[in-house]
Amino acid sequence: MHSDTTGSWTPVALSADLPAGTVMPVQIPAGSLALWRTDSGHTAASADRCPHRGMRLSHGFVRGEALSCIYHGWSYAQAGNCLRIPAHPGLVPPETIRVVTHMVEEADGVIWVALGRPEGRPPGLEGLVPLRSLTALANIDAIAAAAGGKTSPQGIVEVASGTGTICLLLSRQDEDRTLIHVLLKGITDQAARIAAVRSTESLRRKAEDIHKKEFAQ
Ligand code: FES
Repeated sequence: MHSDTTGSWTPVALSADLPAGTVMPVQIPAGSLALWRTDSGHTAASADRCPHRGMRLSHGFVRGEALSCIYHGWSYAQAGNCLRIPAHPGLVPPETIRVVTHMVEEADGVIWVALGRPEGRPPGLEGLVPLRSLTALANIDAIAAAAGGKTSPQGIVEVASGTGTICLLLSRQDEDRTLIHVLLKGITDQAARIAAVRSTESLRRKAEDIHKKEFAQ
């Protein structure tokens, strides 16, 4: 798996959207990953393909500190090694049975994944409070145009609101689709948070219109 984001951090989900003991699919330009959190709270990112017969591991389940495939129940550790093959309970799985894993970092309520070896850690988001994530059928340029702003080197577009700033942390999923993580700066009361949600949804519609007119092939 290789893409133009190899060697850099991609914000794939908000921490709140991945409770302990769960797995979810996340999309990056290079393809789909299984993002999961162990019962004790550690995050892991695995290729979304079981080495046995190719079932998507994001359809599987987490038990304790392992991710199990839904098809025949082979289970894998965070490091990718196979821990157990239910059809052969007495067998210690050989080291050669492994699922590919990727680096994961979690900070300031955001989970980041890197393919390859990035230099340094993900950008700091101190002072920003995660609100929600939503997918737009639009590329990053269309979203920046809809917001009337520029994307910062961290991949953030800022939108002024009545009481503070809405920060859109953008994560390209493919040519025509972007995951938007909405983070708030200085917005704390409930009414302002609801207004921020509405404002972001309206910005998404505008971005999708711009994308259709200017970028879609
Ligand atoms: S396909 Fe995953 S255990 Fe068989």
